[in-house]
Amino acid sequence: MTRNTVHSMLPPANHDEQSRESFVLSLKTHVSKNITPGNKVEMENVVVPKFRRENNRDPWSLKELRRAMNRNPYHQMWGSLMRTGQELMWISVVECVDRQIDAMTVAFNKKKKKLGGVKTSPNMKLPGYITAVDIHTMPGNYQTEAYPGDMRQGAIYDRGVHLYHHGSRATDDNGRLLVAFMNGEYPDHTINRVLEEGCSTGNSTTAFCDLYPDAEVHAIDLGAPMVRYAHARADAMGREIFFTQGNAEETDYPDNYFDLVVSTNMLHETSSKALPRIMRETMRILRPGGVMAHMEVPVRYADMELYDQVMRGWQTRNNGEPFWDKVCSTDTVEAVKAAGFERARDGYITRTLDPVNDPRRITNVASSDNMHRYILTGVKPA
Ligand SMILES: C[S@@+](CC[C@H](N)C(=O)[O-])C[C@H]1O[C@@H](n2cnc3c(N)ncnc32)[C@H](O)[C@@H]1O
Repeated sequence: MTRNTVHSMLPPANHDEQSRESFVLSLKTHVSKNITPGNKVEMENVVVPKFRRENNRDPWSLKELRRAMNRNPYHQMWGSLMRTGQELMWISVVECVDRQIDAMTVAFNKKKKKLGGVKTSPNMKLPGYITAVDIHTMPGNYQTEAYPGDMRQGAIYDRGVHLYHHGSRATDDNGRLLVAFMNGEYPDHTINRVLEEGCSTGNSTTAFCDLYPDAEVHAIDLGAPMVRYAHARADAMGREIFFTQGNAEETDYPDNYFDLVVSTNMLHETSSKALPRIMRETMRILRPGGVMAHMEVPVRYADMELYDQVMRGWQTRNNGEPFWDKVCSTDTVEAVKAAGFERARDGYITRTLDPVNDPRRITNVASSDNMHRYILTGVKPA
């Protein structure tokens, strides 16, 4: 089975589109490899010395250092390139998707036998944190629909992820890493039914099918175009997954339904008000003894140097991630405990290529290295 980003539901790029995508990728790689590190040099040699001269002390909060960095021309130039790269990415991706997605949707809908299923709720009230802003500056965000049955936003997101993964690397790494975590921390946990919350296009969800082959796999997302596309994508990849448009704060699943509830990169896109609600709802739908595990970008401000906080927090203001700062400085373990979970804890895990034979355990050693992921977990009392 393919783990690749290439599958028959991904709108293929023609020569010119590929060329534009290659340019965007080169620009983004150049900025992150060669220009991003200069921010630290600039902070140490220019920004902090200037702050010291003006205030007779070092900056001591994220706010102070951010304000000082924002006045620095190198940091401004870097920010402008970052933003430009992101906008160019969506421009190149959208053109490719719009050329083909409607015909692909019609063809998929005509298909008689499909694996798994999808359920949407046209009258569902979407929370403000999803409608207020285009996250990652993706035009239309996760939820916009031009017509009933539209899959466009899912295809745009998938083509964007494809570009991010350099067009070839597997995109189910986060799902596989979550399974590695489960194998390390809860090796004897029986999993017959699993739910992924905030699945987007289901690129992590397929890993749960592969690594829990006997389990029934479900996935929800707020965006109707996401789950429609995710269903078509999973079918194209030969995976049986049951997708539902739903809010992790309040789902339609019965009490005690799942053995495992997971998410990857969802929590930092929800509001701090939603967080405790998601924890309580997860507690309700897990069976006694069931496990919850949320995997996140490794961003816990309490564990990070001020410089890293500024660089990561840049996303909040400039890349459509308005909830990032707040969730990354919230006491998430407290929220897990408050919902009634036992063994509530968080920490970091390192990447593995083999989730079955190379299980991962949580460490509390923080690293801003991208090879690490943050995990938040708890067990419903038996
Ligand atoms: C960054 S994407 C994560 C995609 C995928 N899990 C991955 O790791 O590639 C976050 C997704 O979470 C969804 N989301 C945010 N809050 C949610 C909620 N309360 N309930 C369900 N989905 C939610 C968004 O619609 C979005 O598709």
